[in-house]
Amino acid sequence: MIPITKPFLSEEEARAASSAVLSGWVTQGPKVKEFEDAFARYVGAEHACAVSNCTAALHMALLAVGVQPGDVVVTVSHSFIATANAVRHCCAEPIFIDIDPSTYNMDPGALERFLAEECEARGNALYYRKTDSLAGEGSPFCHFFGPGGRGPGSAGRVAAVLAVHQMGMPCDMERIKGIAERFNVRVIEDAACAIGSEISFDGGKSWEKIGRPHGGVACFSFHPRKVITTGEGGMITTRDPGLDAKFRLLRHHGMTVSDAARHSADSVIFEEYAMTAFNYRMTDIQAAIGIEQLKKIDGITDERRRLAEEYNKALGQLDGFVIPVDREYTRTNRQSYPLMIEGCSGVEQVSFMQKLLDNGITTRRGIMNAHQEPPYSDIGWRLEASERARDAVVLLPLYNGLRKDEQDHVIKTVKEWGRKRGRQ
Ligand SMILES: Cc1ncc(COP(=O)(O)O)c(C=O)c1O
Repeated sequence: MIPITKPFLSEEEARAASSAVLSGWVTQGPKVKEFEDAFARYVGAEHACAVSNCTAALHMALLAVGVQPGDVVVTVSHSFIATANAVRHCCAEPIFIDIDPSTYNMDPGALERFLAEECEARGNALYYRKTDSLAGEGSPFCHFFGPGGRGPGSAGRVAAVLAVHQMGMPCDMERIKGIAERFNVRVIEDAACAIGSEISFDGGKSWEKIGRPHGGVACFSFHPRKVITTGEGGMITTRDPGLDAKFRLLRHHGMTVSDAARHSADSVIFEEYAMTAFNYRMTDIQAAIGIEQLKKIDGITDERRRLAEEYNKALGQLDGFVIPVDREYTRTNRQSYPLMIEGCSGVEQVSFMQKLLDNGITTRRGIMNAHQEPPYSDIGWRLEASERARDAVVLLPLYNGLRKDEQDHVIKTVKEWGRKRGRQ
């Protein structure tokens, strides 16, 4: 069976994990610090704070920039559900902007229309006008607008834009940032899939790593489905030392002195618990693996780009399929390979996936939409491009170690299915 993905782990990671175990220091400690420093250097960020996963990173990022109960955060539905859930974890509600189907990312024009036409300035802040429409059963807004709620006017402040770099493909940060700045709203990047991806702000003359960050904060995932992995894990980067200090409190119960600092102190130190916070720590075992993974990242992304190019060459000429291509401002890490089948119905998508499965090839359907899942569906969002992308896209196997004969078999099977459907 050809899997959809495989983590690229070997002896180096196993030895690093083993030596962390044998060091006697297994939770957040010296290896976490070393991983954070290496990560910050790699993406060009001033600060990087390691956490237990990207959902935790997103939750912390939103809280740290001031998202409060009753606020709204503008994002996309077309993302893993953690993006929307992180907003709800702050007792705020996501506003879903449709995607540009050619990038799978937030459509900046739709963002601009939303902020200009559906929001209004009150004092120094921007408010969404139709907050009562958000009071779905699973939404924290039902406490504002449900029976006995606090009523209109008390909720709907637009607290942030949460921009996703879907499947590692950088979103149009230049336009999104420009629009958000005009409306005085902060931008956070969900870069869960985007480690190793690059973005250009000068038409391709120079490139910067995603995570510098370009918004106020960027959040990464090290789940095994990602380009590098620590089993579970996340990272949060920023330029702002104040935000970084908040992240360190938020991930560690609000504790003002780290375990490592107490351990190495030669006088007695008592810690304080400065805020109500969480246990979102990464372990030193995970960080030791992450350090080794990061050393390999350039080779990993080069190989993923080569494999994606092979798919593009073979499938790009076929009628009825749309391949993923970089924009002039993007260099994706090819975390996934989305193949769009033009005019595809859900039924046809299943037939395509089944054909590949029958031939020993695992696939996944396109990225999910949070608004079509039970916790969000009763709000009644209609997002045509997102809905089409979920049902017309299939992700093909792409990972380091995918052999030529395996990739040729995938290509041949896709072509066979296309021929039967009259697509070539
Ligand atoms: C876009 C996006 N955001 C957030 C997450 C959540 O990451 P984690 O599993 O590390 O919490 C994922 C995971 O797949 C993701 O793809």
